[in-house]
Amino acid sequence: MADREGNIDPKDFGIGIPQKSEGFFLKGNSHVEWGMKSRLSRIFDPKSGHSVMLAFDHGFIMGPTSGLERMDLTITPLIPYSDCIMCTRGALRTIVPPTCNKPISYRFDAGTSILTELNDQCIQDIEEAIRLNVSMLAVMAAIGDPEHEGITIRNLTKTVDLGTKYGIPTLGVTAVGKNLVRDSRYLSLASRICAENGANVIKTYFCEEKFEQVTNAVPVPIVIAGGKKLPERDALAMAYRAIDQGAAGVDMGRNIFQAECPIGMILAVRAIVHENKSVDEAFEMYETYKNEHK
Ligand code: R5P
Repeated sequence: MADREGNIDPKDFGIGIPQKSEGFFLKGNSHVEWGMKSRLSRIFDPKSGHSVMLAFDHGFIMGPTSGLERMDLTITPLIPYSDCIMCTRGALRTIVPPTCNKPISYRFDAGTSILTELNDQCIQDIEEAIRLNVSMLAVMAAIGDPEHEGITIRNLTKTVDLGTKYGIPTLGVTAVGKNLVRDSRYLSLASRICAENGANVIKTYFCEEKFEQVTNAVPVPIVIAGGKKLPERDALAMAYRAIDQGAAGVDMGRNIFQAECPIGMILAVRAIVHENKSVDEAFEMYETYKNEHK
């Protein structure tokens, strides 16, 4: 209840001290509004500027992918070690405990599967995303796919419009079609187009050569997808090289949940992404954790 009498007079106005005005730690997002910055600061660690996103949305096009057959057994235990989870609403409602309190990068588009032509997508209802308390809307852009480029870019721009209205950032996901090469030329073109269309963060693939051209050509943070399962040390080396060349994190699925020791793997990935550990150090951490938890 507000009191009208007996209040202490305000006097600490800090006269002569300019009001503190903080910048924003995340590339290309200094001018977005407060709600977006708040959500982005839950996804990316403001100290390291980086994020380890755990991706398990594969089922929306691939069905029961290896490692995701029983997500309650394989994914739920990994969630506490992630900075952010990337998944569908089906996974959220069935196996993600609402008490986990992790920011959600929400698979906001849906469409064709691996059994037909990929990338013929539509987007979902923004009210559903708000109801699920998501922190980012993830939408695919199939750049260079003659059939679906236009549809997916329309989905992306519509998502950016809806996200901007409600303070939810958009993750532009570069899809790689059958005939497209994962080189720096293609990845920088596709990622840049997503950013120019308003995506706040881009998910793309790492490429062996000139990956720093991709991160430099794109004015917002890039996180890399892991792609198909690699030997654990190679996956750690890929994460290391991506971070070293300017990536702001990983959005990794199969190389974590298909690893021989998934918790050991996500911990090792974290050591690279947040603590600048070398590949050798991270791999040793992985091996030690694996051997101690057999
Ligand atoms: C694919 O369906 C999804 O977009 C995945 O989230 C993405 O490919 C990352 O997962 P992975 O590291 O397994 O490639």
